Amino acid sequence: MLDLAKAHRSIRSFTSQDIDDSLLNDLLLAGLRSSSSGNMQTWSVIVTRDEARKRWLYEAHREQSMILEAPLVLTFCADVFRMREWLRVNDSKQSFDDLLGFLTGTVDAVIAAQTISLAAESVGLGICYLGTTWWAADEIIEFLQLPKGVFPVTSIVIGHPAEDPLLRDRLPLEVMVHQEQYRRLSDEELRQAHAQREIKAWERYNAIESTRKKLAKAGITRVSDYYTSEFKYPKALHQRISKMLIETLQEQRLWL
Ligand SMILES: Cc1cc2nc3c(=O)[nH]c(=O)nc-3n(C[C@H](O)[C@H](O)[C@H](O)COP(=O)(O)O)c2cc1C
Repeated sequence: MLDLAKAHRSIRSFTSQDIDDSLLNDLLLAGLRSSSSGNMQTWSVIVTRDEARKRWLYEAHREQSMILEAPLVLTFCADVFRMREWLRVNDSKQSFDDLLGFLTGTVDAVIAAQTISLAAESVGLGICYLGTTWWAADEIIEFLQLPKGVFPVTSIVIGHPAEDPLLRDRLPLEVMVHQEQYRRLSDEELRQAHAQREIKAWERYNAIESTRKKLAKAGITRVSDYYTSEFKYPKALHQRISKMLIETLQEQRLWL
């Protein structure tokens, strides 16, 4: 398990080999066994295998080609709807249609996603998360017909790897782990902690010809500048998506 976790790489290219139903069922059962807040299990997962429906997801997720290549897309949702329905049929007091209910379901959903990811990797499959689930949450809700109380929080593609990428850089453990209380880094420590990232990620971005040209044209010379540039996560995009998320959470009755 330790070796497996320490060898994780996201996989974005897949063979055409399918994943059979019994293996998928095993992966889902592993996810079901995940820890869950109050054991309320306020999460759900939507399985997408149908080619036409995968193509729709591909469009919604900003045309990430791994969605078309992978045989399987799993969309994990915070789901207080089922819990609230159970309370309703039992005439119990209602609750959970609030931010805390949403966050509780979100944490459970992400834990299940990660359990399934590790389980998939343990049998030689590859996975990649789709952060664009937030970006397209309003469209995904409609497409997957999620009732009020259900909200998509993350997705993963799963398939047989057609690539063998190198391990990606990580920040040093010492800057991520704080002993007993939070320790702020000095400017110099911050620069040092990110030095390897600056080199490795810069090399990786520049190895892609189209990205190299875009960076050069825009005069971007550091990874930190790339992150907030128009090519990656510009502030305006973040603000637009944040606004949509707040409105959609209200619409889905998860943020009263
Ligand atoms: C919540 C989350 C969302 C992600 N979204 C995307 C995505 O939309 N597209 C993508 O190519 N990779 C996505 N990734 C994968 C990250 O880019 C990847 O984990 C990171 O670069 C580290 O690389 P590694 O997983 O190979 O170690 C996502 C990862 C996480 C945890």
